[in-house]
Amino acid sequence: MKIFVIGGGGREHALVWKLKGSDTDHKIFCAPGNPGIAEIAECVSLQAKQIDELADFAETNKIDLTVVGPEDPLTNGIVDFFEKRSLPIFGPNRQSARLEGSKAYAKKVMERFRVPTAAYRELDDFEEALAYVNEQGAPIVIKADGLAAGKGVTVAETIKEAETALRAAMVQKVFGESGTKVVIEECLRGEEMTVLAFVDGKTVLPMVPSQDHKPVFDGDRGPNTGGMGAYSPVPHLEKWLPEINERVLCPVAEGLAAEGTPYSGILYAGLMITENGPKVIEFNVRFGDPETQVILPRLENDLAEIFLAVAEKRLHEIKLLWKAGASVCVIAAAPGYPGPPTKGLPITLPQTLTAKTQIFHAGTTNQNEQLVTNGGRVFGVCAQGADISEAREQAYSMIEKVHFKGKHFRSDIAAKALS
Ligand code: AMP
Ligand code: GLY
Repeated sequence: MKIFVIGGGGREHALVWKLKGSDTDHKIFCAPGNPGIAEIAECVSLQAKQIDELADFAETNKIDLTVVGPEDPLTNGIVDFFEKRSLPIFGPNRQSARLEGSKAYAKKVMERFRVPTAAYRELDDFEEALAYVNEQGAPIVIKADGLAAGKGVTVAETIKEAETALRAAMVQKVFGESGTKVVIEECLRGEEMTVLAFVDGKTVLPMVPSQDHKPVFDGDRGPNTGGMGAYSPVPHLEKWLPEINERVLCPVAEGLAAEGTPYSGILYAGLMITENGPKVIEFNVRFGDPETQVILPRLENDLAEIFLAVAEKRLHEIKLLWKAGASVCVIAAAPGYPGPPTKGLPITLPQTLTAKTQIFHAGTTNQNEQLVTNGGRVFGVCAQGADISEAREQAYSMIEKVHFKGKHFRSDIAAKALS
């Protein structure tokens, strides 16, 4: 098969690596890709927002299936556009992508299908929002309605913090139009877990769960990032999987299908496991980053076959098979991240990797034939092992061999599973 992956981060490197590894007959293209992806696939110098040009490329090169990594092209309707041109593509259409593109829309969907989630109010007037926050008290969560590159959520411990977040979104408009409307939510306490599922409109196939680590510093302190590391399985929370399937994934897929807007692609449920059970924090409409980097090394199936089954609405024919053992990913970040990262720092990598370790590139580029930093999350350093502690030891021993000035990483990835 000829497969075209759109995106250029660690998630896309993991997707390309898995697609390539499962059947070397597959020819993989990636736009724009990154230096790690370029070692195993053909990179195309098009950005994810150049939808017209991406479709032209898919048509000219007779691509069998296009797979979209990031959310922006999905919420911008890349799937509708490709389908109009009869180009096979994996992912939700623009309407379905609103599950991630509008938090207010996602809340309404959850309300209709009785999915457990935090109590909330949707508001587009600053004074009213402030009054609601004062009435509810702190802690309270403020969310910009639209996409905000993972920065639109504030878990406010005080009313003052909540007011600052509301003012930034609604008055100063730091997220542009994305923040003119806000969702104000009850603050949930507990441990977070991610469950991704393949969905073809009817059939829901959940993947093994994983746990991300959003805050930049050990002990979940400091500002939020895109994710500083992940691991899978999550043994101490897995007992909740049947409930997550029955009360979250299936009702959404079945409910949307019954309303005549079937969901197709990856459904990402970000959950808080509270003392009253799992509650949804957010839906995304794509693979997670860095969750993908730990899940795909555990998958036995040919990923291309699953994607094709989704696109052809015959996911019921697929049985997902998972490797025993565990997988851990630790992000090596550039100095400054999650603020503006230092770019252009020379990188050296270990010469050899074992079959059970991967270094997925994210924020890297080549400058005069030297690999240098080019973004906040530079690499996802991943390892698999018989259990979490073995995978974790391998990942941490490998990250010591990745060198660039000011490299930082969390030293407690997967620690919650071991305590
Ligand atoms: P999101 O961008 O929606 O994933 O939110 C970013 C992070 O904010 C989540 O990973 C949680 O850690 C936190 N968060 C979001 N919503 C809530 C909530 N209702 N209660 C507590 N924490 C939340
Ligand atoms: N790891 C969080 C996300 O992909 O949204």
